[in-house]
Amino acid sequence: MAEQTSRIRYGVIGAGMMGTEHIHNVMAVDGSVVTAVCDPHPESLEWARIAVGPTADLAEFHDHRELLDSGLVDAVVIAAPNHTHHEILLDAIERPVHILMEKPLCTTLADCREVVEAAAASDHERVIWMGLEYRYMAPTQRLLGELEAGTVGDVKMVAIREHRFPFLPKIDHWNRFSRNTGGTLVEKTCHFFDLMLLITQARPVRVYASGGQSVNHLDESYDGETPDILDNAYVVIDFDDGSRGMLDLCMFAEASVNEQEIVVTGDVGKMEALVTESKLRIGRRADGMHVVDTQEIHHAGVKHVGLHHGSSYLEHVDFAAAIRTNAPAAVTLMDGLRSAAIGFAAHRSIDTGAPVMMSDLRELDGLDW
Ligand SMILES: NC(=O)c1ccc[n+]([C@@H]2O[C@H](COP(=O)([O-])OP(=O)(O)OC[C@H]3O[C@@H](n4cnc5c(N)ncnc54)[C@H](O)[C@@H]3O)[C@@H](O)[C@H]2O)c1
Repeated sequence: MAEQTSRIRYGVIGAGMMGTEHIHNVMAVDGSVVTAVCDPHPESLEWARIAVGPTADLAEFHDHRELLDSGLVDAVVIAAPNHTHHEILLDAIERPVHILMEKPLCTTLADCREVVEAAAASDHERVIWMGLEYRYMAPTQRLLGELEAGTVGDVKMVAIREHRFPFLPKIDHWNRFSRNTGGTLVEKTCHFFDLMLLITQARPVRVYASGGQSVNHLDESYDGETPDILDNAYVVIDFDDGSRGMLDLCMFAEASVNEQEIVVTGDVGKMEALVTESKLRIGRRADGMHVVDTQEIHHAGVKHVGLHHGSSYLEHVDFAAAIRTNAPAAVTLMDGLRSAAIGFAAHRSIDTGAPVMMSDLRELDGLDW
């Protein structure tokens, strides 16, 4: 695909909470415009229209194929429910459009593999970017920079805690059932497994998890069915370089300060990124016990803060820059597969009560990830 010098025209597929967040962010990026939207739900189309503004030209579709074939878009953002990702992404991969794919990649490992293989086999020259925007949170970015500078030495442990509010109500209650989401440890925490992979730069070997649905949604019923999505878990991951990760997820813990805390400990020190407070704490063992430097972190260049602390805006800036310069995606579908795979393994571990060897999943999967 030729280098893009004119405005980049975006189509947004799925205009719910995240889709409208994308619309606001795309429109905040210089040289980008939203020209089309697709959603089967009239109220969501109305949200999209409000988000782009009453004077903008916006083509509306109910079927993603009509949008993809409209000739009105250079790039699409896929922000429809998780169980639709596989079909929509395969259809988008067939067309010569740039793609930003919301997480999680797909709801099963087999579907993840199929889309990765389809993208690899495609002849279209374009950017396919995986939306894992927790990489772009300001304290996370600073932490990643410090890691590269060797601030804590060789990473030995990564502990990520997400303590937050329950899943919000959604159209058709799609997020109440694991068959639609892939399971909470895929749907929600693929972000954190992605961060662990990025921080350790290692391959996961073994996953052990304990989790359940202890509090949330137990009093809800949809067509006679009670939601089955777990709301709390501990997940432990062994990596092939001897480092280990731990995830602590609780979704009935909104009465707390930080939604996410990312703690990385190496042989020479420890760092903590506190996402809601937007702080980074750094301690070096050589400086002595309890000596910690606390930095307030802010991203100067963010033009739209939105629901994710400016991270979606920064993700879109990089996606658009890759489109303009014909650069490869910095966050790939394979990153989407790897981050989801740890979630699939964690769910399997909870179901069986035993650790899951990632080699078993890789063998089943047939892809070397
Ligand atoms: N990156 C993040 O932090 C983050 C945050 C929230 C949601 N998400 C992801 O974004 C996606 C959407 O989540 P949401 O919270 O916006 O859900 P939502 O229910 O608010 O919005 C989904 C929209 O997609 C529409 N839709 C359903 N089927 C469709 C189809 N076949 N084609 C086009 N549109 C369709 C629905 O009508 C709805 O308007 C999910 O994959 C979710 O995991 C990511």
